[in-house]
Amino acid sequence: MASSSSSSSLHLFFLFLITIVSAFICVSSNAFKQTKPNAFIFPVKKNDTTHQFYTTLDMGKPSNYMNMVIDLGGQFSWLDCNQYNISSTYRPIRCMSAKCNATTEGFTCMDCLDGPPRPGCTRDTCAFSSYNPETEMSIFGVVGEDTIRVSSTDGRFSLLDFDIRHFSFACGDIDFSSVFDKGSASQGILGLGRASNTSVATQLSSAFKHVHNKFALCLPSSKQFYFGSIFVGGGPYYFLPHYPDDASKLLIKTPLIVTNPPNNYHPPLSRTDVSSQDYFIDVKGIKIDGKQVSFDTSLLWLNGEGFVETVISTVNYYTVLHSAIYKALVRDFVKEAATNKKMKRVGSFPPFGACFSSENIKNTMTGPAVPIIDLVVKGNNVPWRIYGANSMVKVKKNVLCLGFVDGGSFPITSIILGGHLLENSLLEFDLESSMVGFSSSLLFHNASCSQSRVF
Ligand SMILES: *[C@@H]1O[C@H](CO)[C@@H](O)[C@H](O)[C@H]1NC(C)=O
Ligand SMILES: *[C@@H]1O[C@H](CO)[C@@H](O)[C@H](O)[C@H]1NC(C)=O
Ligand SMILES: *[C@@H]1O[C@H](CO)[C@@H](O)[C@H](O)[C@H]1NC(C)=O
Ligand SMILES: *[C@@H]1O[C@H](CO)[C@@H](O)[C@H](O)[C@H]1NC(C)=O
Ligand SMILES: *[C@@H]1O[C@H](CO)[C@@H](O)[C@H](O)[C@H]1NC(C)=O
Repeated sequence: MASSSSSSSLHLFFLFLITIVSAFICVSSNAFKQTKPNAFIFPVKKNDTTHQFYTTLDMGKPSNYMNMVIDLGGQFSWLDCNQYNISSTYRPIRCMSAKCNATTEGFTCMDCLDGPPRPGCTRDTCAFSSYNPETEMSIFGVVGEDTIRVSSTDGRFSLLDFDIRHFSFACGDIDFSSVFDKGSASQGILGLGRASNTSVATQLSSAFKHVHNKFALCLPSSKQFYFGSIFVGGGPYYFLPHYPDDASKLLIKTPLIVTNPPNNYHPPLSRTDVSSQDYFIDVKGIKIDGKQVSFDTSLLWLNGEGFVETVISTVNYYTVLHSAIYKALVRDFVKEAATNKKMKRVGSFPPFGACFSSENIKNTMTGPAVPIIDLVVKGNNVPWRIYGANSMVKVKKNVLCLGFVDGGSFPITSIILGGHLLENSLLEFDLESSMVGFSSSLLFHNASCSQSRVF
């Protein structure tokens, strides 16, 4: 059942009914171009209960500190209006203004007459609704902008704080604990969508001349004292003290894949009527300890409609595979584990199919010493290497499971690379050259994504 979260006090006027041409002209950010940051940094935290990665955004005046779940494929940043205090710098985006037209593609208008204006309830406001077929939830959002405070970086430390004016986002009457399967303590979603004018990365790079339209993610693993990072604008990236060199030299590059019709995957609160915001790469095969896993590789490319099938997601925690790929991976991993690592299989712990006693598995810098999984990617001979820390999940004392999940025979995409697999790797998404770079595990270099970035 579809449910609508728009409140009855909101009156929707469709665009053809509106005749007012807005006097509110989008103010360009030229005023900021004199200052010269090259990159910005956001801290990334992990919630161990929900397995969500989030950042805390300092927004508005006085500050609202909003915990926002990082959604790599999100078109918009979303907030729960009810948790956003009145801010003197908040401005609704007027309906049919240039900015409204540029950001929402097929918008509607909202008039809210219910009490004094506040975020989410203003007159003549740009709005849209989003329906997510997976959660069967329809969400109504109004578009507004406010000042956010972001730290610049040199790749090592957080440097100066900048006030970024006109940061646009959508806000709605949204209970984020019901948006995600496992609940959420967040007040929003931070969208980093590929083709979106409203992605955080795109907004920052269009406001600052020296900030390139690229960003990097470094997701922390559990129980770390320091935070991970999102870097916006590109490298260098440093992971001190153990990896003193610029980690962008570690990045293995593979093209971002954009197809027509668009690839198809819907993270929470995404709109289905806009071009895909997701980051797809071309995984050509999988190896275990250097040996090819045998399965029908057309599953990696085709689903009958010509879609590319490996998406990178920060909102899925465990990597999900098409059933045929999953079965082949488990079969070969179990065989390799028994013959070469003498690992002892124990019963399965759903959703995981292959579990082992950890008693005779050594611990190494890169996690449990289990067979190594390589993802072979387009355009590079060097694979995305997955060590025990990213492939195995501790389900209870002395039991480790292969942390991949069977997505069935008709999944939305054949492979969803999830957060657990991405932890402690540096991933760069370059929207200018349309490339994805990955470092494989920083643990291999005795570094990790959890870094102190204050001096
Ligand atoms: C809104 O204001 C209240 C009261 O001052 C404060 O407790 C709360 O943290 C503020 N909300 C945010 C998101 O910062
Ligand atoms: C926005 O789009 C509407 C409908 O196409 C159009 O009437 C309006 O003039 C546009 N606004 C601007 C500022 O271009
Ligand atoms: C992004 O903005 C540009 C210029 O404002 C506009 O031409 C383009 O259609 C927008 N793209 C999207 C996806 O909204
Ligand atoms: C993690 O999420 C759970 C469930 O939403 C919440 O109860 C808990 O407070 C969160 N923990 C932190 C540290 O935010
Ligand atoms: C890795 O780092 C730890 C401290 O975090 C240090 O004790 C250890 O000697 C380092 N190992 C290598 C091989 O550099």
